[in-house]
Amino acid sequence: MRLQVFENYEEVSKAAAKIVASQIIVKPDCVLGLATGSTPVGMYRELCRMYRDGLLDFSAVTTFNLDEYYPIDRDNAQSYHTFMWENLFSHINVRKDAVHIPDGSALDAQTECDSYERVVTEKGVDLQILGIGQNGHIGFNEPDESLEVKTHVTALTDNTVHANSRFFESEEAVPKKALTMGIGTILAAKKIVLLACGKNKHDAIVGLLNGRVTTALPASFLNLHNDVIVICDKEAYEG
Ligand code: GLP
Repeated sequence: MRLQVFENYEEVSKAAAKIVASQIIVKPDCVLGLATGSTPVGMYRELCRMYRDGLLDFSAVTTFNLDEYYPIDRDNAQSYHTFMWENLFSHINVRKDAVHIPDGSALDAQTECDSYERVVTEKGVDLQILGIGQNGHIGFNEPDESLEVKTHVTALTDNTVHANSRFFESEEAVPKKALTMGIGTILAAKKIVLLACGKNKHDAIVGLLNGRVTTALPASFLNLHNDVIVICDKEAYEG
């Protein structure tokens, strides 16, 4: 696992965008695994700028998002579907049919997860972007006694519902479940970049970097992958 520590959020965002941009330049028809949350917003802004400046072409890129709340309508202002179109997809030339996000309005959540897993596994992710929850979750793989390998339906922990309530009108409005790639789905990516900013991520980053694997900190499983870069700001690293 490689570590890069930057002064602030802007620098983290630029460094992450450069890695994504290099991936697209080296392999224009690459498959990107994408994350939501506040952390990657700056990276997406930078990628949109590069596209506007004529430096990037997304026309052959395929994307798979990590997760989505369940149940939630696509058009809900807080769905990850809305998030991705607002922060990235509407501003670049990615093909609509090349974008994949778990469907939070599927009637049968398990069937949706199974078909998502099948498609993402068939395609194979070249570069997976991750954020990290304060409790060490990746995607919506929450700390537990055991972790799921494949895309699955999961219950959100109180900690995550509380942390994510800042985007909703109230804590009650946060969906209590989600559809998420599993730990195995994430680890199948060829390359993984995890972003973390702010003091509230410090404990999770310490746990991630201590070289041990535990289901109590799902991100720690990234230690089993041979091409992971952790990019964080000083606050997340030093606490
Ligand atoms: C959500 C997402 C995660 C994300 C995490 C951190 O729970 N499912 O993929 O990493 O939030 O979010 P933030 O970047 O806003 O701290």
